Amino acid sequence: MEYKNLLFDVDDGVATITFNRPKALNAMNSETMGELSDAIARCSDDDAIKAVILTGAGKAFVAGADIVEMQDKEPVDALKVMERGHDTYRAIEILPKPVIAAVNGFALGGGTEITLACDIRFASEKALFGTPEIGLGIIPGWGGTQRLTRLVGMGRAKEIVLSGETIDPQRAYEIGLVNRVFPAETLMEETNKFAIKLSRMPAFAVKMAKHAINFGAELVLDHANRLEMECCAQCFSTKDQKEGMKAFVEKRKPNYIGR
Ligand code: CAA
Repeated sequence: MEYKNLLFDVDDGVATITFNRPKALNAMNSETMGELSDAIARCSDDDAIKAVILTGAGKAFVAGADIVEMQDKEPVDALKVMERGHDTYRAIEILPKPVIAAVNGFALGGGTEITLACDIRFASEKALFGTPEIGLGIIPGWGGTQRLTRLVGMGRAKEIVLSGETIDPQRAYEIGLVNRVFPAETLMEETNKFAIKLSRMPAFAVKMAKHAINFGAELVLDHANRLEMECCAQCFSTKDQKEGMKAFVEKRKPNYIGR
């Protein structure tokens, strides 16, 4: 599939998906959502891709869902927009490879919501987060009320969602909405470095770690711990586990093959 609103690059095992619809500050219209869904499927299918970065071209990461496209929708069609966004963002969340958001600028509404579906959020000092939907007469519809609550807690999520206020990178860092903040000039270099580091980890263990965290988080503790034990035990079926432990014993660097 050719992309109109995304750039898709693969280098050194890391796929970088760049939102690139500058005339609308990378707002997420249905065309871009379709392209993002395709790009995530490519990342899932291609064994050469070991980690993924999402970022934006220009001064925005993603300025939210496309308001122009949405404004006249009836509830039945609005629901379809929400379902499509949820399906795509969930595919990001459960992709069996690490996904890092490199937030370069405006990440509002559906833009903040994409970052919430990523495993890790790095932000430039120029990033801006928030869920301004309330000011448009709606509420976040692509996971904002749910993933934000789980990440920063109910009190902070209500403060953000009900006020629609924007959140600067320092505040985002303080409340655990972003993992690290970098000067704008070094955001991509630092994100790349980290993505390469993750891409060199044993692939099955990475997959199991994401699985245990994603699915365990919704279970009662006893069931979640059981899930963790089983995921950990399954890692012992891989050559990479044998290699990792052998390398430790032999005091050398492991050579992982992703099996
Ligand atoms: N949808 C459609 N177009 C958008 C857009 C959006 N979300 N955000 C920006 N644009 C367009 C603007 O309409 C403008 O287009 P024109 O040049 O044709 O007028 C262009 O991008 C540049 O935007 P601005 O002139 O507004 O740029 P700015 O620097 O002055 O302001 C901004 C930047 C603060 C991000 C402002 O554009 C803004 O507030 N955007 C909307 C943010 C928003 O409300 N997002 C939530 C959307 S709803 C949602 O996401 C629902 C959901 O959960 C599913």
